[in-house]
Amino acid sequence: MGSTVPSFSDDPYSDEHLTDPYPLFDRLRSAGPVVWLEKYQVHAVTRFAECREILDDHRTFISGAGVGPKNLHRESSWRPPGILETDPPVHTAMRTALGGVISPRGVRSLRAGFEPFADELLDRLRSTGEFDGVTDLAEVFPLRVFGDAVGIPRPGRAENLLAHGAMNFSQFGPEGARNDEYLRRGEGTHAWVMSMTARENLAPGGLGEQVWGYVDRGEISAEQAPLLVRAMLSAGLDTTVIAIGNTLVALLNHPEEWEKIRQDPRLVKFAIDEALRFESPFQSFFRTTSVDTVFHGVDLPVGTKVLLFPGAANRDPDRFGPDAHLFRIDRSAAGHLAFGMGIHQCVGQPITRLEMDVLFTGLAGRASTLEPTGPRIPYLHNTLRGWSSIPMRIT
Ligand code: HEM
Repeated sequence: MGSTVPSFSDDPYSDEHLTDPYPLFDRLRSAGPVVWLEKYQVHAVTRFAECREILDDHRTFISGAGVGPKNLHRESSWRPPGILETDPPVHTAMRTALGGVISPRGVRSLRAGFEPFADELLDRLRSTGEFDGVTDLAEVFPLRVFGDAVGIPRPGRAENLLAHGAMNFSQFGPEGARNDEYLRRGEGTHAWVMSMTARENLAPGGLGEQVWGYVDRGEISAEQAPLLVRAMLSAGLDTTVIAIGNTLVALLNHPEEWEKIRQDPRLVKFAIDEALRFESPFQSFFRTTSVDTVFHGVDLPVGTKVLLFPGAANRDPDRFGPDAHLFRIDRSAAGHLAFGMGIHQCVGQPITRLEMDVLFTGLAGRASTLEPTGPRIPYLHNTLRGWSSIPMRIT
């Protein structure tokens, strides 16, 4: 380690910092472009410009050695690596197929299936009175509409997909008691998810079955297709549930912003981006150097893990202004790193955006106020940031 790198003994994965990461993020960002985390013996990057620089340079900062702390070129994982943990040229073919399935045209056609369920669910919640914004809304909506879009059977979704996603994202953070707990809760779900990726279990015309069409055309292998369907099922649900919950909380805390949306529901799409910037669901992940390199004066020999914090970068005042710590739907949040950047930038983001647009536009048409009705429970996870419970009411 170069002697000029500021060193920190703080643990960003402690309960305290996961509950409120921003004071530590401010200190890490202020200290320099690269900092050293003593507990994990790893270099970390928290500023927007440098996170972006690394994400844009996929040749030097690779994903194929894993986007968690383990070096998958040296150690094995409990599951074969998917698209997220491959580099070109293998990544290129997989990405072309998945990007083709999740095309703007294909995604637009999903709206007709999403809207009726949003209407039904929101009408029900309005008449219920008090409900939980996570378990009654944020989970219920994507479990139904996203599961239907991929084309998997409805039974078993709720029991398997959420725990599987949480287990999957947990491996991108450190080992230890918290990770063990998410692995324990996810036991058995990987086998269920893999069984759902088989062609015969996927509804004709759904996103999952369309992936298999790329095998028929010789563009990906029969081994890659299940990995791509798995990628959708493991990366697409928890993240969206959390994004919906975080947006609800931002709006509950800022009734003046909700009033603007109610007056003009076209603002929903700006509110979604601002909420993703403000509380990024996927807070941190790794890259690994493919060659000896020097990054902002810091020597990083080949095989060095670098920990990126998009959640901190998205609060960087140098990129988003001195009020980056505030939720303001009229700011320009575009270009945030909540979906990553570069060749691995989230391929599923049009689906999440559509789900959130349908849901919050439906809410804007029904709810004049959003009211908290009790204390919220934060969701403590090493890489995902959200809520486990949001007691609330819409009037
Ligand atoms: C709010 C919701 C979501 C968030 C915050 C999110 C976040 C991210 C981020 C940050 C990355 C890049 C990670 C990296 O560079 O290492 C990523 C990649 C990915 N996401 Fe998402 N995601 C979301 C929803 C979805 C959905 C709905 C799907 C389902 C199709 C999905 C599938 C994927 C896949 C397959 C990749 C890997 C892409 C590649 O390696 O080329 N995500 N996501």
